Amino acid sequence: MRFKVTVVGAGFVGATTAQRIFESGYADVVLIDIVEGKPQGVALDMLSSGPVIGTDAQIIGSNTYDESVNSDVVVITAGIPRKPGMSRDDLLMTNMNIVGSVTAEVAKRSPDAVLIIVSNPLDAMVQHAYRVSGFPKERVVGMAGILDTARFRTFLSQELKVSVTNVSAYVLGGHGDTMVPLIGSTTIGGVPVAQLIEASRLEEIVQRTRDGGAEIVGLLKTGSAYYAPSAAVAQMVEAILLDRKEILPCAAYLEGEYGIDGLYAGVPVKLGAGGIEEILEVELTDAEAAALKASADSVQELVDIMAKA
Ligand code: NAI
Ligand code: 2OP
Repeated sequence: MRFKVTVVGAGFVGATTAQRIFESGYADVVLIDIVEGKPQGVALDMLSSGPVIGTDAQIIGSNTYDESVNSDVVVITAGIPRKPGMSRDDLLMTNMNIVGSVTAEVAKRSPDAVLIIVSNPLDAMVQHAYRVSGFPKERVVGMAGILDTARFRTFLSQELKVSVTNVSAYVLGGHGDTMVPLIGSTTIGGVPVAQLIEASRLEEIVQRTRDGGAEIVGLLKTGSAYYAPSAAVAQMVEAILLDRKEILPCAAYLEGEYGIDGLYAGVPVKLGAGGIEEILEVELTDAEAAALKASADSVQELVDIMAKA
């Protein structure tokens, strides 16, 4: 029997996530969207690629939640993306309502699922989904750190002309302008990055990482990134379904770790069948610890706005 994954939102991130999972062959996919015909059309098109790529996995599209019953993992990408000039935070109230209603629908039909939240502003949305779902914190996790870290690793590999696989790095904190690319623990083939790139150039790469989403929004003009985001979600889905116990930077509910309490923020976690099975506390420099605290404070501001709504 294959696993069952529901993806809510059949837009760019949702559709490409569904495609990656469908093509992996280990899970059947239910794709849900409010736009009539959209998830059905996307799913039928994808299903028809099965004979070509050689998968017997199933994918169906729907405008209702009935088909999602007893999913192992539910990915929520429903919401609006930002346009040029908008920050992720500008999406707060619209996406809070969407993510809240979607979470309520999926939680009652798949009470044992792991929820992966993607909609922005990410950390506030995953906090909202955690509250609405009533699920244990281990089974509500946000995707952002893998994406931000992938951008950081890409830019470092370009700079040093080495394989991306040789770049070991983390971007922690909230998925916004205050995200924290770590320098102290970043290594290139085991060599500390600060020995290979001078400080001022490293700071430019850090800033490009922070602006990575906006750079793509500026180029696309009508939406935001989806290839790297969907690759990141697929990695999380696989880690959970295949119980890989993979250490990945994800948004997790913190209760004292890193000095942050009662809030979601991006930290390294062990992702397996139980969802977040462990939160790892890596050593931070004083500057990194202060930056992580500032990043958490900006997530808290959004959470406070939601609480007053
Ligand atoms: P999109 O506009 O292509 O797709 C969003 C889809 O959600 C649309 O098809 C829309 O009809 C659907 N939708 C809206 N309300 C819904 C509801 N109540 N129920 C079901 N479906 C609903 O946007 P895209 O590019 O797929 O991005 C989706 C979200 O993911 C955005 O909020 C974006 O900012 C966020 N995002 C987050 C990333 C991260 O790192 N966490 C990375 C990339 C995108
Ligand atoms: C990104 O970083 C839109 O949050 C999304 O590309």
